[in-house]
Amino acid sequence: MNELAAVREEALGKVAEAEDLATLEALRVAYLGKKGALTGVLKSLGKLPPEERPAAGAAVNAAKEEVQAALEARREALQGAALEAQLAAEAVDITLPGRQGSRGGRHPHAVTMARIVEIFRQAGYAVASGPEVESDYYNFEALNIPAHHPARAMHDTFYLEGREEQAAGDPRWPRLLRTHTSPVQARIMENTQPPIRIICPGKVYRVDSDVTHTPMFHQVEGLVVGEGISMAHLKGTVIEFLRVFFNADDLAVRFRPSYFPFTEPSAEVDVECVHCRGDGCRVCSHTGWLEVMGCGVVHPNVLEMSGIDSERFSGFAFGFGPDRLSMLYYGVDDLRLFYENDLRFLAQFA
Ligand code: PHE
Repeated sequence: MNELAAVREEALGKVAEAEDLATLEALRVAYLGKKGALTGVLKSLGKLPPEERPAAGAAVNAAKEEVQAALEARREALQGAALEAQLAAEAVDITLPGRQGSRGGRHPHAVTMARIVEIFRQAGYAVASGPEVESDYYNFEALNIPAHHPARAMHDTFYLEGREEQAAGDPRWPRLLRTHTSPVQARIMENTQPPIRIICPGKVYRVDSDVTHTPMFHQVEGLVVGEGISMAHLKGTVIEFLRVFFNADDLAVRFRPSYFPFTEPSAEVDVECVHCRGDGCRVCSHTGWLEVMGCGVVHPNVLEMSGIDSERFSGFAFGFGPDRLSMLYYGVDDLRLFYENDLRFLAQFA
């Protein structure tokens, strides 16, 4: 009985201290297995006098059941703790805010271009386009700018290399990046008979790069050809466009005589400074005016070269830089901001 009490005590103590399932299993074998300690005690009962055996047997069985129950209870406790630990480790904090998808936006220049196109679309203009890699013929020749014409010097042209031999003598072979969108005028007139009413928004290139110039910039060309088209139509169109664009019904607009080989007469257009409304400020260099486009009545030579009867038809054309209009409209005075792709800047226009 003393031995039984000691083994029972020892077993229960070890079970209570077991930290994992493997240890529990080892304890089960050590006490309740075929060669286990309690099993050994049971076997030794045979040495007792017969009248003591039933009581002793009952005591050993009770101890075995007690140890068995302790083992089970401990196993459940250990398994429960393991599950708790796993759940804690794999827990997902569903209260964390999710990752918001960010929505992109159009570049301010693109927004402005879309506004411009929409204004002219409402006035019945179609949108035309032409290649950025252009031939000498369309960029200059067809616009009444023959070789050696001094106006060529005003266009700091990017010339393409290596195609000279192939193009030998062919003025229509692509060999430069267009310096303005005016070549589209000639391309359109070559394959369309009047009435013509188009704008051509697009990229143009000039060998120019400083604080106020980028080698690539945008232009919007406008061309209207029909019977009886005059300078008056040009003025009305340009003034109305600028007033709608700047949301200013009474915006002052003035036409200054100028020169372009492809228009006659030619004019440069100024608008009243949209910042100081004509008082004079840094934006307008204290003149009160901002130069925004070139325009004129299409030169008869240009009509004729593209196959349009200049006795019957006349037209007007204009060309302007939407990037500059964008800057004036948004009140941004540094051109570089538009090309640095700083989202803090761009996001304001999205
Ligand atoms: N192509 C001219 C330029 O780039 C602008 C212009 C277009 C002038 C149409 C008159 C008519 O400066």
